[in-house]
Amino acid sequence: MFTQPIATLRRDGDALVILDQTRLPWRVVERRLATLEDVAEAISTMRVRGAPLIGCVAAYGVAVALSTGAGDDAVLDHALTVLRATRPTAVNLAWALNRMDARLRPLSSAARREASWIEAGDIYAEDAAMCAAIGASGMGLLRAMPRRAGRTLRVMTHCNAGWLATAGMGTALAPVYAACAEGLEVEVFVSETRPRNQGLLTAWELAAAGIRHTLMADNAAGLLLMRGEVDAVIVGADRIAANGDTANKVGTYLKALAARASGVPFYVAAPVSTFDAGTACGEMIPVEERAAEEVFFVEGLDGEGCPKRLRLAQEGTCVVNPAFDVTPADLVSGFITERGMIGVEGLSDFLRSVRT
Ligand code: MRU
Repeated sequence: MFTQPIATLRRDGDALVILDQTRLPWRVVERRLATLEDVAEAISTMRVRGAPLIGCVAAYGVAVALSTGAGDDAVLDHALTVLRATRPTAVNLAWALNRMDARLRPLSSAARREASWIEAGDIYAEDAAMCAAIGASGMGLLRAMPRRAGRTLRVMTHCNAGWLATAGMGTALAPVYAACAEGLEVEVFVSETRPRNQGLLTAWELAAAGIRHTLMADNAAGLLLMRGEVDAVIVGADRIAANGDTANKVGTYLKALAARASGVPFYVAAPVSTFDAGTACGEMIPVEERAAEEVFFVEGLDGEGCPKRLRLAQEGTCVVNPAFDVTPADLVSGFITERGMIGVEGLSDFLRSVRT
């Protein structure tokens, strides 16, 4: 059974301690978030990232705010408003904040403090359990997948939807971790994921777990898929609309198109908290636009192993930086969830069942 080598967050008194993902894969550094503003900054600058983890951290952010403030309605409302505004696309954020609101609103100011830590802890623990269940259902899929003679099963992924992005073993990587733990060998093609290069986080995770993987530039995906070098694409999601249109890290859509053109199945792995019955279709999903700076600059280590930030494009260059794209439902072969595999045609029944 796979467990997170390092917890993505932990409580420290009235503060939250996170693993600062902006320092990875070069340095493992924790950061203490002692105020609501610290938590909001950590989410919006992507010190913590990945839809499920963003939801968990936002929930803990409410607890931090209530513990350091009066705990009354004004403080609760302010915390919810500030945290809601941090990142718009991942629906897990709103899902977690709505759940905190529903749990805490009826309580007295004094009772809210401890209750907020308990509820956030429950959200975190439940996310870990959901990841494990996603791993189990995805492993069944990988097991049943036809493999080419003399070759390990090959999965391509995009961004980072591993343990760093959740409270447990991840979403898109959970089937891989589960399969490898059961002795089924799987190799992973890891897309670099410009501009924030979350693929480096995936490569770091897989290296630590001893799982064979190959890092590639995002633009190599089409050729590898066309050549039949990949058996399946599995990605995570930030929001899945009621019709199955899926928002995920920018670049996902191109992989889905290339997978369809090459006859390779394309799966989305996500917990119930990522499905948004209230958003009818992809066009209604807010796509986060991030700073041009992320495209202008690249970060890495210099020859001496010191972190460095380098400018790529010349000043004044016009830049567009959408953080996500939306893959139409008809390109998705199935959703790997904690409740098993769901086909696009079964999505409305699934959404009804999770609401009741
Ligand atoms: O901008 P990020 O790094 O938070 O985006 C993350 C992704 O797009 C992930 O694929 C998605 O959140 C699923 S994480 C389990």
